[in-house]
Amino acid sequence: MRIGLAYNQKPDPSSSSEEPPSTSDVFAEWDDPATIDAVAQALGLFGEVVRLEAAASFPDRLARTHPDIVFNMAEGLRGVNRESHVPAICEFLDVPYTGSDPLTLALALHKGRTKEILAHHRVPTAPFAQVAHPRELPGVQLPFPVFVKPVAEGSGKGIYINNLCTTPGQLRDRVHFLLEEYRQPVLVETYLPGREFTVAVLGNGDAARCLPLVAFDFTTLPAGAPPIYGFEAKWIWDTAEHQLEIYECPANVPATLAREIERVALGAYHALGCRDWCRIDVRLDASDVPNVVELNPLPGVLPDPRLNSCFPKAARAAGYAYDELIQEVVRVAWLRIAGETLATPARAGVAA
Ligand SMILES: Nc1ncnc2c1ncn2[C@@H]1O[C@H](COP(=O)(O)OP(=O)(O)OP(=O)(O)O)[C@@H](O)[C@H]1O
Ligand SMILES: [Mg+2]
Repeated sequence: MRIGLAYNQKPDPSSSSEEPPSTSDVFAEWDDPATIDAVAQALGLFGEVVRLEAAASFPDRLARTHPDIVFNMAEGLRGVNRESHVPAICEFLDVPYTGSDPLTLALALHKGRTKEILAHHRVPTAPFAQVAHPRELPGVQLPFPVFVKPVAEGSGKGIYINNLCTTPGQLRDRVHFLLEEYRQPVLVETYLPGREFTVAVLGNGDAARCLPLVAFDFTTLPAGAPPIYGFEAKWIWDTAEHQLEIYECPANVPATLAREIERVALGAYHALGCRDWCRIDVRLDASDVPNVVELNPLPGVLPDPRLNSCFPKAARAAGYAYDELIQEVVRVAWLRIAGETLATPARAGVAA
């Protein structure tokens, strides 16, 4: 079997004219070489691995190598449909791939569209408004506090602690800043004051299941910081030298609440038409009802267990080593596509 690996690699900071990644969120979504190597290594179990960087050469290289399946972890180059480009090209060239389809990836990247669909399916999500221009702000009827964010970013991009707004003046300033900086509409949401969880979902249809819940311990943030898992917590306060011990997995949570969080997460997974795997962020509202914050159908998978990465952490709690998690994603995808269990060759293949 030949298996393609579609990815976007973070540029080497020493050769980049951008600010270093610790202060800039420009490449926050892309993967580092160690993650790409670790995934390639895991995929080697199934056969020959072909690395396909999701750059300008991708369509041509995919057509020439025509793998049996592509493991898609590419976040894409540009635009609000960037995560859909690789799966759309795979579909055009009739190459099966892991994970969600272009429609679901585009919807999930657009948090406003996501919330409309969740609301339609009665999956709880915070009340919200979308603002494309500051003159629309007076029409926003949500009580304070509110939380604001760019409508179509991920990995903490544009999410800073002062996106939590308690006054109209603060809201106006922040919306101005985000519109200017990210050149896309801003989502204004009711602030969810309760505990936060993230739910790793694996599988399809009735076989979709939640891995052990991950809870966030916000007492690990610097004193006085609001309980927001945004850019500061992900990329500034959490470093290789000073790990933020923010994840608790399995989450210490009453069984009835845990089941409710899982029910809401699976409801969101199916409402958005997710496939194979997805990480779903959930926060409790003022009445302790789990609300879906957003879905991540291309979840981050840092291999180093010392680094904070929720999906691998939840998988470890469920008994999957890193390689086994990546391989399980391929297996559930193959079962969905081919209707049969993927055979593992007697000898491991070569990881390119
Ligand atoms: N309505 C809200 N109320 C309270 N906190 C919120 C709200 N929306 C977002 N947050 C906080 O901001 C964080 C980041 O928001 P969100 O998950 O939408 O961003 P993201 O950058 O796409 O995340 P990821 O890194 O998971 O891709 C959440 O984990 C949560 O802590
Ligand atoms: Mg999130």
